[in-house]
Amino acid sequence: MGEVNGFMGHNMLAPFTAGWQIDMGPLVIEKAEGSYVYDINGKKYLDSLSGLWCTSLGGSEARLIEAANKQLNTLPFYHSFWNRTTKPSLDLAKELLDMFTARKMAKVFFTNSGSEANDTQVKLVWYYNNALGRPNKKKIIAQGNSYHGSTYLTAGLSGLPILHQKFDLPPPRILHTQCPHYWSNHLPGETEEEFSTRLANNLENLILKEGPETVAAFIAEPVMGGAGVIVPPATYFDKIQIVLKKYDILLIADEVICGFGRLGTMFGCDKYNIKPDLVSVAKALSGGYMPIGAVLVSPEISNVIHSESNKVGAFCHGFTYSGHPVACAVALEALKIYKERNILEVVNKLSTKFQEGLKAFADSPIIGEIRGTGLVLSTDFVNNKSPNDPFPYDWAVGTYFGAQCQKYGMLVSFSGDHVNMAPPFSLTLEELDEMISIYKKALEDTEKRVEELKAMKK
Ligand SMILES: Cc1ncc(COP(=O)(O)O)c(C=O)c1O
Repeated sequence: MGEVNGFMGHNMLAPFTAGWQIDMGPLVIEKAEGSYVYDINGKKYLDSLSGLWCTSLGGSEARLIEAANKQLNTLPFYHSFWNRTTKPSLDLAKELLDMFTARKMAKVFFTNSGSEANDTQVKLVWYYNNALGRPNKKKIIAQGNSYHGSTYLTAGLSGLPILHQKFDLPPPRILHTQCPHYWSNHLPGETEEEFSTRLANNLENLILKEGPETVAAFIAEPVMGGAGVIVPPATYFDKIQIVLKKYDILLIADEVICGFGRLGTMFGCDKYNIKPDLVSVAKALSGGYMPIGAVLVSPEISNVIHSESNKVGAFCHGFTYSGHPVACAVALEALKIYKERNILEVVNKLSTKFQEGLKAFADSPIIGEIRGTGLVLSTDFVNNKSPNDPFPYDWAVGTYFGAQCQKYGMLVSFSGDHVNMAPPFSLTLEELDEMISIYKKALEDTEKRVEELKAMKK
């Protein structure tokens, strides 16, 4: 992998095509200022993905820096094992339980990342079913193309084929069901509601085929981020939840991207009326300033785990840095800011212009779909406007678009031929205009490039 870490770095290996190459890196970022970052050569970029869906409050929020400093000067570290913990972790747990209102949650377990949160979910679910004397009820179903992390278990939960190939994944007891992407997967004439009904039926058939007594949980992102911002089709979560209830299957909501206002509601569960048993959060929990994630556990599950651990000993799971006081202090301050600045109003105000301004380019001959909600959006580049007609891989259309954005001073994420954007909530209307104008220039360049490549192919 060279000196560049991170699997998203596969874009660094931009393909050679017909004698040209996209030189994408490495790009070394040195400094942040509001919605912008700067590289080591002083070039300024509008950070249209908030780092990696993290820096909702921008890159230079003085209050978060102050919260970290203050905590470092008071108690830079203590752990949360046995009967010990710290005040910031207790306060943050309480705040999270107050904030999550889609249904009542009882306990919080802190992790250092979204992957650790989802990994923890699987262990909680397995422990829970063992405690209930249901040792066979262990299978977890996830969505095709989903992203839930990079550890052995969470890469297995993820439904993106590239995370499985060459890694001998998914492991046993992890299954996948269809990705709820209406545009690319619906049948001719099928409405969104009918598509959702079909997917719920397929889920039920999978559960029946496997045996409901073997299926423990279903994990889903309210809006799938890494897969290219897949907004659930109408009635999808209503119908899925009916199936899960029928077979006593737990629902894990992966709110790692959606949580803390990104969709215009505090959590994705609020937007889609999801009543989960377990919730994972990370990223914007600390505005990205400190690594921290968390698992929220329902009273029903926590009661079972509590009484079982009284019999067999502790629920033996934890990380040295679980509930790290500095990370918790920063996260507490971030949550305070989200409330004080009425972040939902801010996101909803920005999102209308963000969505409409960018979706106006959907007629481009090289774009199949632009989709999104709140402050997340994805663009799919395809040939002939068809989900079934991708551009040749070695044309690297998405990568080329990303490179043009970078040239004009904006960073987007691109994976294959879809490009994701999720700007900070601190974005001003002027910065949003700049974002739209750079997108336009990069799109015009990409359209020209595709025309040239088509002409060369003739
Ligand atoms: C929905 C979702 N879940 C889990 C993760 C994993 O989080 P982390 O990279 O913090 O381990 C991510 C990361 O992008 C994510 O988007």
